[in-house]
Order: sequence, then structure tokens, then C-alpha cells
Amino acid sequence: MAKDTITVTDNVTGKSIELPICHGTHGPGAVDIGVFFKEFGYVTFDPGFVSTASCRSAITYIDGDKGQLLYRGYPIEQLAEKSSFLEVAYLMLYGELPQQPELDGFLGNIVRHTMINESLKGFYQGFYHDAHPMAIMVGVVGSLSAFYHDSTDIRNPEHREIAAHRLIAKMPTIAAACYKHSIGEPFVYPQNKLGYCGNLLNMMFSVPCEEYEVDPIAQKALDMIFILHADHEQNASTSTIRLAGSSAANPFACVASGIAALWGPAHGGANEAVLHMLDQIGDVKNIPKFLEKAKDKNDPFRLMGFGHRIYKNFDPRATLIRKMCHEVLAKLGDENDPLFELALKLEEVALQDDYFKQRKLYPNVDFYSGIIYKVLGIPTNMFTVMFAIARTVGWVSQWMEMIGDPDQRIARPRQLYEGAAMRDYVDMNKRS
Ligand code: CMC
Repeated sequence: MAKDTITVTDNVTGKSIELPICHGTHGPGAVDIGVFFKEFGYVTFDPGFVSTASCRSAITYIDGDKGQLLYRGYPIEQLAEKSSFLEVAYLMLYGELPQQPELDGFLGNIVRHTMINESLKGFYQGFYHDAHPMAIMVGVVGSLSAFYHDSTDIRNPEHREIAAHRLIAKMPTIAAACYKHSIGEPFVYPQNKLGYCGNLLNMMFSVPCEEYEVDPIAQKALDMIFILHADHEQNASTSTIRLAGSSAANPFACVASGIAALWGPAHGGANEAVLHMLDQIGDVKNIPKFLEKAKDKNDPFRLMGFGHRIYKNFDPRATLIRKMCHEVLAKLGDENDPLFELALKLEEVALQDDYFKQRKLYPNVDFYSGIIYKVLGIPTNMFTVMFAIARTVGWVSQWMEMIGDPDQRIARPRQLYEGAAMRDYVDMNKRS
């Protein structure tokens, strides 16, 4: 047998076929099962995609055993230290780090699209003030397609690029407006000279009646958190966008579907859930009780911000965010902040516990990000919105990669049907 095939035998019929094994740059090879159904008449069954690669991609790579994350081949640690969020956005979209003129051109494009159509602002008034900002995000981002008709022909590469730029540029404006709506303050227009994260902070926290100065530490912290959240392979929200996009749906609607998937507490909603959990635990002395709850299979409580499908070692993003948390607290808050102390202690105790050790459950990116957001004054219900702003870069990059692939087809998974066998309709008077 050649090295790069695998032989599969149906023990019922005795039929054998050789399936090719595709090798990527890094990571496990993938058995190409494209002919499996045709040859055997069986579909494959893999709920949760535990063993299934849903696509080819050249954007992000995770080595879960090593705790390694690469964007276009570059280690996340190097990008977090040396790059900026918009440079990373360029890298993700176009595959290479930009030369200075390319970066300048890209920044110019993003800046050109930061405003939203004035009519779009009316949408917010339809939401009650206590609407969850993620609910507003789903609605407003989905509605962008009703405003920007010149970027929805997905077969046109220029349209795709404009849509991608618009989404990256407008997301902070839309997000800040969600926050302003919830507190009844006027929306603040973008100030492009402030940079991506500075502009977001200004749109969230400035008011027309007072001077507001963006704190450079807050800006830097946000920029780094955004780099760390920019993409993460074929996670639930990205896969949702690829699935929605595979039917040739418009990009704004696709990204709205990704925002909906991100909102769940098992995914991006975990950062908000971590803060609620820490509030619920309340004190270091309660940690053992909550760890027992997390281990109890009859209790739905889970340690939020812990565990990951792919990482079976430290999530490198959590390591960087923990370090940043120390820095931000030292400069803008209090390094002895009881919430931070509680989080550090919870991590320490959980990592010594056999249950978490055996299952290789480590803190993930969401465990510490909320503490930084809190110090920056960002309210808890906006945490997942912050994640959505950053992940938009990954979403549009993955969407562009998919639509640009000449072999792209509509995604249409099969199923294992376990419902009733075929039966005849029973008239009402004959039903038992
Ligand atoms: N607390 C307690 N037990 C856990 C946890 C946790 N946070 N995570 C996993 N386990 C247990 C789980 O019960 C199972 O135990 P057993 O083998 O005895 O049945 C085992 O560990 C494997 O877990 P799983 O649920 O099969 O793993 P998964 O890959 O399907 O789920 C996860 C991954 C991230 C959804 C899960 O670990 C979890 O719910 N974590 C808490 C939520 C969270 O922090 N999510 C953010 C993920 S990172 C950012 C992002 O993706 O957006």
C-alpha cells in the first residue's frame, strides 16, 4: 500500500477501496472520503466534527498539543508583541505582511468606511434599551446588505473586498452605537485619526459635552486582545459563516449568522459567562464548592473559560492575556483586584485537580479577557461584542477564501436518520 492512502474494507460485502490521505503544511493528514458514499453507499457520522476537516484553509493553524497558534504561519506571540490589529487584518485577508505603502493603502480603505448610513441608526430605536447588544448586532449587521448594494455581488472579487473592508471598518461603529443606545447617550461619530481601537473607545466613552482622551494603555490592551481574537480556524461561528456563505448568501447576512453562533456561552459568550461565574463564586473560600459543581455530571454548571476542543495544553492566547491583565491592572486598576485574585486562585486550584488534569482542561482565551474589559470600563454584556469586532477579520478572511475557491460548492451535510419508518397517514377519527 502506498504511504498516502488508507484501505477501507466493508466487512459485510468484502469490498475494499483505497482512499487518499491529503497532507497539509502542519497537522494531521486528512482522509479524502469524497467517493465514500458512491463506493460503499454509506455516509460517515461525526457529530460535532471531531474527526472531520470541513474545508481546506491557508489562514490559521492550531497545534492543540503544543498550545501553538499561527496566523498565516506567524506565531501569535510574535504578532501580539510586534504587530497591530489592522496589520494582522491585512495579513489575514491577503496572506502576507504588508509593505508600508500597502498598509497605508489598507488603513486608508478601512478609514473610508467607518461611518454607517444615517438611516441605519434608526434601527437602534426599534430595540428596547435593555436589549442584549449581541441581539442588536445580529440585526444591524444583517441589515447592512439593505444599504450597500455595491458590495453584494459575491462573484465579483472587488465587491468581496469592499464588503470585507466595510465589515471590518463598521463593526466598531455599530458596536459602540449598541452601547450608547443601552445607556441613552447620543451616538458618537468615528474619529479616524484615533486609530481602530482608539476610535472604538472614543465612540463608546466620549460624550458631546466633554473632552475625552483615549488612554494609550487601554488602546494598546484592546489592540492586543483583538489580535488574539482575530481568527481561530473552523470554530462554530466561522463554520456557520462558511455554511451560510456556501449558498452564495450576501456577506453581511453571513457575518450576522456568525455573530449569532458566537453569542453562545460555549463559544464567544464564555467571556461574559466567566464574569458572571466569578461574581457567583464571590470569594476564594467558595472555590472548592464550585469546582465540585463543575465536576458533577448531574449539575449543568461548567467552569466557564476552561477547556477547548482543540487545545489540550495551554491556550497560548490565555497566557498572553493573563500577562496583559497584570499590566493593565497595575497601570489602570489594582493588581490586587479581588476579581483577578479570585480568577488566579481558581486557575491554580483547577489545574491541580485530577478531573481537570485528566481531561486536559486549561484556561482558554475567555478566562482573563473579561477582567481586562472590566478594567477598561466595558460593561459585561458588551464582552462578546468585543469578540465579534475582532473575529470579523477572521470571518471575512475565511469567507473570501471560500468564495474565491473555484471548487467551492454549497455545503450540504448528510444525516443518520433515526425517526419513524415510513407509515401511512391516519385519519383523525382513527388515531389512538
Ligand atoms: N468545566 C467542567 N468540565 C468540563 C469543562 C468545563 N469548562 N469543559 C469540558 N469539561 C469536561 C466535559 O464534561 C467532558 O467530561 P467527560 O469526558 O467526563 O464527559 C470532558 O471535559 C470533555 O469535554 P467536552 O464537552 O466533550 O469538550 P468539547 O470539545 O465538546 O467542548 C468546550 C469544548 C469549550 C465547549 C467546553 O470545554 C466548555 O464548555 N468550556 C466552557 C465554555 C468556554 O469556556 N468556552 C470558550 C471556548 S474558547 C473561546 C471560543 O471558542 O469562543
